[in-house]
Amino acid sequence: FNPPYAPYDPTDKACFSYETVLKRWPIIITGVIDHLHNVCHALSIEGSQLAVDDAAGRARVQARVQEGTGIIEKISKLKYEMARDRALEHIPDDGGADVELYNSELATLEKENRNTWFTAPWLYAECYLYRLLRSFFLQTEGWKDADPFYEQKMKTFKHSSKSVIQLATMMQDLEAEKETLRSNPETLKVLFNEMIQMCLWGNATDLSLLTHLTEADIQNLQTVGKDAQAARQKFILKDDEEAVWNHVQTLKGGQVDFVLDNSGFELFTDLVFADFLVTCTPYVSKVIFHPKLIPWFVSDVTPPDFSATLAALTDGALFAEADGVSPAQLANVRALGARWTAHHAQGDFALSVDAGTPLGGGAAGAGAPAAFWTTARPYWDMRTEAPGTFGLLAASDLVVFKGDLNYRKLTGDVRWPAWTPFKEAIGTSLLSPANRWRLTFSSAGPLAGAFPLLSLRTNKADVVTGVPRETAEALDASGEKWRVDGRYALVSFVPRN
Ligand code: F6P
Ligand code: MG
Repeated sequence: FNPPYAPYDPTDKACFSYETVLKRWPIIITGVIDHLHNVCHALSIEGSQLAVDDAAGRARVQARVQEGTGIIEKISKLKYEMARDRALEHIPDDGGADVELYNSELATLEKENRNTWFTAPWLYAECYLYRLLRSFFLQTEGWKDADPFYEQKMKTFKHSSKSVIQLATMMQDLEAEKETLRSNPETLKVLFNEMIQMCLWGNATDLSLLTHLTEADIQNLQTVGKDAQAARQKFILKDDEEAVWNHVQTLKGGQVDFVLDNSGFELFTDLVFADFLVTCTPYVSKVIFHPKLIPWFVSDVTPPDFSATLAALTDGALFAEADGVSPAQLANVRALGARWTAHHAQGDFALSVDAGTPLGGGAAGAGAPAAFWTTARPYWDMRTEAPGTFGLLAASDLVVFKGDLNYRKLTGDVRWPAWTPFKEAIGTSLLSPANRWRLTFSSAGPLAGAFPLLSLRTNKADVVTGVPRETAEALDASGEKWRVDGRYALVSFVPRN
């Protein structure tokens, strides 16, 4: 291979980044504006219903509506400027994490004349977009903890009721059999494969792609069960499941980490996989989940989402309206929620940030290891750039990186030939800050081999590695949107050196 490889950016109109900046981001941004309009409208009605002598109450509501309107104005301006390919502005010092890091990267892009919406590297610009949105909320008094995507996330979770109920029943059955299972490696292997696939395809549900998927498409993607999984096997273009299983079997009471992706059904499948490992196998005794500290890529898990998921399952009401749900099935969902809440309380399941952490980005978020996940940085140099985060993962017996964005960051979102070995793509190191988008190439790089690493990703962006050359070339030639439409997937594993 001949480096340097450039990162994907929308100057190439054939790439998904162009369609994203042109169509998908405006839809997502408009959704946030609509949501804020609705909340402000509801607040105004609430204010008008307060007692005439409740001057303080009215003033409070009025101030909140005013601030909400201010956020809407800023977001509308952002949408206008994006459509006209204007320059990205520096993120103001809003007291949140990573302002300097974002702004210094932007300064480098300014020097290279790549600092506009249609010229900036896609990975940088997309992360910047969510960090900038956060900044609009952080600069208020009354909206600091607001997550404009929260309702959407819970609504989609509700739409997954059928699959949730099915998997909850399966998990309760497995729990009842746990003693037998723990001493039966053959059965565990079969179940492990089922689990890994469920967890993989759970990533097909992602609200940032909902701008072009119908609800029927989503339900279809979530269909669980053997037949569906067997049918999807041919869509897994790189499949290291066997190697992961061989590794997991060597563990005894080990620790697994999940660098989470989306809330809702995907988080549910992560928890099912984690529960299986902790409850039904002797190999794992603790699972640590790493969420995002700020609302991120629409559907990513934040600490409040994590708590709300456990609470919704324990309560059960969210799933009670599912077609044909029986009291016994609902009882399974509740029991599962209660069991997972107990795992969390006992520390078998842990969040890498304190339980109940509000949305970060304030002083608590700045510099915390969890803040690294909402920077725009590739993971190549995690060891030196985010030693706190790296230290957490280095202690793990298996780190599972969920989803597309994590994959883009693992591989740097650059134009690797699709047959580049995954290990080489994640081991790459940046040359120097001045040359940050020009890459050098090293197979003994800083991330590959640092800890056992598993990436479970359905393809939703152009970057692909680890796929046989003939396969990749044939798919590229076929005109299929195999790199981006979420129908194909990659299971990539690299052991510890
Ligand atoms: O373009 C597809 C996309 O929105 C990317 O921007 C992003 O990488 C990804 O989907 C998010 O997917 P996931 O939730 O799997 O990380
Ligand atoms: Mg996501």
